Amino acid sequence: MRTRTQVGIVGAGPAGLLLSHLLHRAGIESIVLENRSREYVEHRVRAGVLEQAPVDLLKSAGVGARLAREGLVHRGIELRFGGRGHRIDFPSLTGGRCITVYGQQEVVVDLIGARLAAGGQVLFEVADVSIDGIETSAPRIRYTSGSEGHEIVCDVIAGCDGFHGICRQALPDHQRHVFERTYPFAWLGILARAAPSHEELIYAYHERGFALFSMRSPEITRLYLQVAPDEELASWPDERIWEELHTRLETDDGWRLNEGPVLEKGITPMRSYVCEKMQHGRLFLAGDAAHIVPPTGAKGMNLAVADVHVLAQALTELLKSGRRDLADAYSQTCLKRVWRAEHFSWWMTSMLHRFPDDDGFQQRLQRSQLDYTVSSPAAATSLAENYVGLPFE
Ligand code: FAD
Ligand code: PHB
Repeated sequence: MRTRTQVGIVGAGPAGLLLSHLLHRAGIESIVLENRSREYVEHRVRAGVLEQAPVDLLKSAGVGARLAREGLVHRGIELRFGGRGHRIDFPSLTGGRCITVYGQQEVVVDLIGARLAAGGQVLFEVADVSIDGIETSAPRIRYTSGSEGHEIVCDVIAGCDGFHGICRQALPDHQRHVFERTYPFAWLGILARAAPSHEELIYAYHERGFALFSMRSPEITRLYLQVAPDEELASWPDERIWEELHTRLETDDGWRLNEGPVLEKGITPMRSYVCEKMQHGRLFLAGDAAHIVPPTGAKGMNLAVADVHVLAQALTELLKSGRRDLADAYSQTCLKRVWRAEHFSWWMTSMLHRFPDDDGFQQRLQRSQLDYTVSSPAAATSLAENYVGLPFE
């Protein structure tokens, strides 16, 4: 079976779905291919923080109604260390900007709903996806659905298939310069049916390791613990997780963490990764397919949104008027923001985690940096400005 579309999009995560939606609004047709089921992608628990600019984009693109109703607007975060909390106030440090806590899977639910309501094609549970012809003007995507083989002939392919996808491998070796760091720890994350015991996120630095308190709604708490990189979930029964969270998060002035039934748990490795370039011929990579950040700066989903904001404009210009300037500048435009987020995520990660081979030197630097960040308006402004994110150009 052979079909045609203007933009073939691999991956129905935030990047692929939002790109398809933005292109539709610009009058450009696309087909999204996803190897998982709709049920799976709509329930995959991942990131939770949206910067101001992605929130504004989702709202102005007509997919922000539920986000506006149910998203929790946060005007600060807390850095907790030495047994007490220190608040960083975003609006006063950033000219009024804030973040919104709204689960990534809710963004995915809203985007799938909008695409299907507009008659868009999002094909789930496809298999054996491969791409070729990216150096020609008619690149192709092949896949199987059921037992049938299919081919889509496109003008452009967007690789939005995440870090483990297949599109990045299609870049020729000499075009794929990879910059990478792995960290000597991972995050164990849980979702619990428990009312959040604090109104804002808490990033806790503790001698036993980092912990993060976050939330999804007035009934659901999201929590993370720094663990060893090779840690197995089986060694972490719920009681051990709660005990460790209490130890790392609780303060000397009596703040206590609410417990509740654990609804989900998983371990996420920590990595920084950038593929330069993000485009070759008629293949454009966006989101985790091109770059990964450790989650400490809450930047992953935000970068995916920022990439496709740039890409939708570039492809609209390319496919409507044949002008190539935005498409040719795509990698360069995105990588500027990507490297700022890479630096911020690396900096937050380095400041807040225990390093296993530390002889005490790193810990003293961390305490000095934390003290400085919460006492100097200049240092606090730098954190706040990066956390709420740069405006889109
Ligand atoms: P993805 O959301 O990964 O979407 C890619 C899609 O492509 C997926 O639906 C996948 O199933 C599909 N796909 C893959 N291969 C193929 C193929 N061959 N054919 C068809 N489809 C394919 N960020 C944070 O800020 N905070 C967090 O707490 C956090 N936790 C995370 C936990 C995990 C386990 C992971 C993997 C990431 C986490 N992130 C977090 C990062 C954030 O979730 C990502 O940055 C974000 O998902 C990027 O969106 P994306 O659309 O680029 O990629
Ligand atoms: C989350 O709520 O899942 C979350 C929040 C902040 C982070 C990472 C994850 O830095």
